[in-house]
Amino acid sequence: MNIVVLAGGISTEREISIISGTKVCEALREKEHRAIVVDVSFGKEEMPSDLFPSAYDLDREVAYINSFNGQAENRKKDKEFFGSNVLEICRQADIVFLALHGENGENGKVQACFDLMGIKYTGTGPLGSGMAMDKGITKSIFRSAGVPTPGGVLLKKDNYSKKLEDYQMKLPVVVKPCCGGSSVGVCIAKSQEEYEKALEESFSYEEETIVEEYIQGREFSVGVVDGEAYPIIEIAPITGFYDYKNKYQAGAAIETCPAEIPAETAEKMQEAAVKGYQALSLESYARLDFMMNEKGEFFCLEANTLPGMTPTSLLPQEAGALGMDFPALCERLIQVSLK
Ligand code: DAL
Ligand code: MG
Repeated sequence: MNIVVLAGGISTEREISIISGTKVCEALREKEHRAIVVDVSFGKEEMPSDLFPSAYDLDREVAYINSFNGQAENRKKDKEFFGSNVLEICRQADIVFLALHGENGENGKVQACFDLMGIKYTGTGPLGSGMAMDKGITKSIFRSAGVPTPGGVLLKKDNYSKKLEDYQMKLPVVVKPCCGGSSVGVCIAKSQEEYEKALEESFSYEEETIVEEYIQGREFSVGVVDGEAYPIIEIAPITGFYDYKNKYQAGAAIETCPAEIPAETAEKMQEAAVKGYQALSLESYARLDFMMNEKGEFFCLEANTLPGMTPTSLLPQEAGALGMDFPALCERLIQVSLK
């Protein structure tokens, strides 16, 4: 198949997306597909220079596109793509593998555009992507579907109270940008001072912030592929919580898959993951993140519709526990998305 891997983008998770895209592209080539990476900036900024050299080791097939429908600039001057635009390149593909994380790529906008243009892509459509990207909407949907989720409130930048009691909440709390990813801008606040600082930080990213009850305990994640839950992975950061550094620095967290929890609890968590996936209208694949407190009660924090896709990312490790290597998982995600 001819596959375009769309990566990069303009979100706070750009770096991760470039790594995901590069690795997916390599894996798809191992499966004998003709795959290229297209790095897209949606016209919002100049393309960064070689910040991520690993992405550019893919010989010739990386196109740099400075807007969504603008002209491709292939730094390696590959004639085939030079002068094309991203929609033309994607239209020529049998499917576009979305390795974008965060804004634009994961929030449903690209998906809506591709639907209108008749371009096939991996993962969830515009509605589910938009709902899952927004942690406030996700929480409401989880509540109405009976998926356990921590208590919380959505604050708007221009109209909120700094007093937690106004929202019937108390410290400690987790403060996070409503539509962020990879824990960028997420803080655990244990004092009023930390809380106010955390709000300031979160509002520097977005107009909306989620303030959530802090669940102290163990962290887990569950992949769902084609409606089926994968083995649960436990993430135990050596220090602190699974923040940006602990997510992406090798050795910063111990990851165990399948997680060592009672079979009955595992089954219930997997059921909750599938329920959350269905309630949010997710398609093809996603990864849902959980916390479990000391009493063994678990809570779903969010769903990631375009989860990290490097060979050591969580979903690929879960697939590994099923005996599926990284190229096989990439192939499976293509197949379930084409259904
Ligand atoms: N948002 C990151 C990429 C993840 O969920 O894996
Ligand atoms: Mg996320």
